[in-house]
This record gives sequence, C-alpha cells and structure tokens, in this order.
Amino acid sequence: MNTKLSHDAAYAQHIQILQERTLEAIQRESIDGLIIHSGQGKVMFLDDNYYPYKVNPQFKAWLPVVDNPCCWLVVNGTDRPKLVFYRPEDFWHKVPPEPTDFWVEHFDIVYLKQANAVEKHLPYDREKYAYVGEYIEVARALGFDLINPDRVLNYLHWQRAFKTDYELQCMREANRIAVGAHKAASAAFFNQQAEFSINSAYLLAATQGDNEVPYNNIVALNENAAILHYMQTDKHAPSDFRSFLIDAGASYHGYAADITRTYCAKQHEFADLIRAVDSLTLQLGEMLKPGLSYIDVHKAAHAGVAQILKDFGIVNLAAQDCQEQGIVHTFFPHGIGHFLGLQVHDVGGHSADDRGTPNPPPTEHPFLRCTRTVEARQVFTIEPGLYFIDSLLAKLKGSEQSKYINWDVIDNFKPFGGIRIEDNIIVHRERNENMTRDLGL
Ligand code: GLY
Ligand code: MN
Ligand code: MN
Repeated sequence: MNTKLSHDAAYAQHIQILQERTLEAIQRESIDGLIIHSGQGKVMFLDDNYYPYKVNPQFKAWLPVVDNPCCWLVVNGTDRPKLVFYRPEDFWHKVPPEPTDFWVEHFDIVYLKQANAVEKHLPYDREKYAYVGEYIEVARALGFDLINPDRVLNYLHWQRAFKTDYELQCMREANRIAVGAHKAASAAFFNQQAEFSINSAYLLAATQGDNEVPYNNIVALNENAAILHYMQTDKHAPSDFRSFLIDAGASYHGYAADITRTYCAKQHEFADLIRAVDSLTLQLGEMLKPGLSYIDVHKAAHAGVAQILKDFGIVNLAAQDCQEQGIVHTFFPHGIGHFLGLQVHDVGGHSADDRGTPNPPPTEHPFLRCTRTVEARQVFTIEPGLYFIDSLLAKLKGSEQSKYINWDVIDNFKPFGGIRIEDNIIVHRERNENMTRDLGL
C-alpha cells in the first residue's frame, strides 16, 4: 500500500472511496442519495445549557468538521457532495468562519443562517433520499420516509473497517498526540501528583479538552486500577504511590487513538507482572495478519494470561488447566480489543458480511467487540489486561476453583489494582504497523 501519498492527495482519494461506497449503498437500497445530518445541540432537562456536542460519525467520515452542529451533507456517489454549512447570525456564540481548509474544494458549499430553514437546500423529492442521523423527529418534519435504513448503514459500517490512506494518516497523528500526552502523564505520576493533576497534565500536553478527547480518560492510581471504567479523578494524592494505569486517547480530524499503559513506582513483583503483560501485548499484536479470525487473537490472549497466572504463582495449575477451569475470566474479564477509527469502538465488529448478518461473540467471551476476519487496512487495539477485582475475586473464592488459587500471592498484588497495556495497530498486507510503539511508548 502507498503510505507516501501527500495529505491532500490522500484526502482526494478518501472522498473518491466514500463516493464509491455511497453509490453501492444507494444502489442496494434503490434510492437517489443520502442526506447526512451532522447533529444539533441538545439542551439539558429543565435547563438552558447544552450537553457537549458530538458529531454524527457518518458526517465526520467525510470532512473534519466536528464542532459545528446543524450542518448537512447531500451525497449520491456521483455528483460533487453538497455541504450545507451552518453559519447563523448569532452574537451569543462564536460563529465559525467560512471554511478555507484543505477539504473545501471537494464540496459545493452553501451557507445556512437559520437551522430550521435547511429545507430549501435539500433535494425537493426526499422520498428517494435516506436521512442518516440521530434526529428522527427532524427527519420526519422534513418529510423523510427512509431514516437510517439498515441496508445502507450495514454496508457503510462494514466498509468503515477498511481505512483509506487519509484515515491512516489521521490515526497516526492521533497516536502521536496521545503518546506525547502519555509521556507527560507518566512524568506527573512519578512526580507523585494526584489523579486530577495527572489528567490535567495529560490534557495540557495533548492540547485537547475533556470534550475533544475521544473518550473519558481513565487515570487510576493503586487499587483504582482494578476498576475497568474508572472515570473519577481523585483530587488528593494518595499517601503511597504504588501503581498507575492510564487509558487515554486523542483525536485528530475526528479519528481516535486509544492507548493504555501501566506503571509501577516500587521495587515489587508487580513491575515484573507489568513486563509480562507488555510482552503479551507485543506478541498478540504481531499475531494479527490477514485471514486470521480476531476471535483467535482473543483466545491466544486467554492462553497468554493463563501462562502469566501460572508463572507468577497466582494459580497452582498448569496454564492449560487454568484456562479449562475458567479462571482466566476473573483476571481478564474484557475483550482483547476492537476496531478503531472514527469511533473508539469502531462499528462493524460483529458483522459476518456487508449486509450486516450478525456474527456475535462466542457465548463464553460475551465482551469481545470484534469477531471479524482480520484484513489489510483494518486498525485494531490490542489490550490484554490482568486485574485484581474485588467482586470477581470474591466470586472465585466462593467457588470450587478457590483451591487452585494462591490467595497470599493475590494479597501481595491487590494493592496495585491491575494492568492493561493497549496498542493501536494497522494491519498491512505484508506487515503490521504498531503506531503506538513506533512513537516510542
Ligand atoms: N478506552 C476504551 C477501550 O480501551 O476500549
Ligand atoms: Mn480500547
Ligand atoms: Mn482504551
């Protein structure tokens, strides 16, 4: 594949590919085109403040406008896409300037002064167009019959797994921003800062605000590292700094990075445990290749965690037996990773084909977000973990398998919470590109 296309050439090619996908999608539905709504502001209940605005991913797939609601795209795969760009007369808020960025030459742009006056800019005969967006009542008011048709979305979501060169460039840049911020955050940890300050150091280094990063950062010290979706940030520094798990990304032109690292501040076996999980991340990342089922990567992760549990004396069983006893789920309860792209958990992971035939995860691995065959141009996270989670350990203790566990070893690790090491990897035909490691993290 060509990774050397200039940014502008790659973007032109990206638009061409989206045009081709659109044409195929509308032909399957026998319609004339898609009308994609960026979204609109949402007022909080009994309030006059707005929730943070999040753009429709189908909109930002076309152009890096992620902060301007009430915009519309009219696309049919053949004609130049039309962009209805919202520029209200408004002295309360900042009105975006007329855009002059690299993308403008690919659109016929008209300006919209009043959000509710969009009708005159849309095709007259909307029966033959599908509305793609979140606001069903707006679509109905505009006379659309066809709203987010499954056949269209299933096809577009399937294709979204295959990144264009432009998208890969954006994702490398998102990784570059996130890696710089991860380095700032780890320095703040070794400087004994509180979670809140570490998170601030991260955001400052990324130059991205809470609503710009692609998901809520997880910044967890000590036992908090065992809480899989720990979203709080304690403002007080703990009296003892043992461990630090940070799962934090960055956005670039609407594309996400999703990176996790874990650190140990002590001379302790936990540091060796981190190294073992780190090696497993690398090993699983190298395993990705076209033709392999992603489910097999998840299974290999289970085998890898079982081996670590045995090597560190957490279980008194052979790795294979540890797996067969179902013990690994206690320590590694989530999936090995997911597609990454316009969304952190990018769409299409559970489809068997471009018609959206379901391909759900195996019953014994319900949290696996991707069951597809690995192919070139796909981008995955690989994120094995090993945690000491109170509720899951309590269940294990009460089970028949309790006798296979060295509980004193668990007591030694528990104050450190847990470990996850997450990289972002592009699969090429001949090789993998670990964007995160290439940037030195
Ligand atoms: N940060 C969310 C995830 O790793 O999937
Ligand atoms: Mn992830
Ligand atoms: Mn993550």
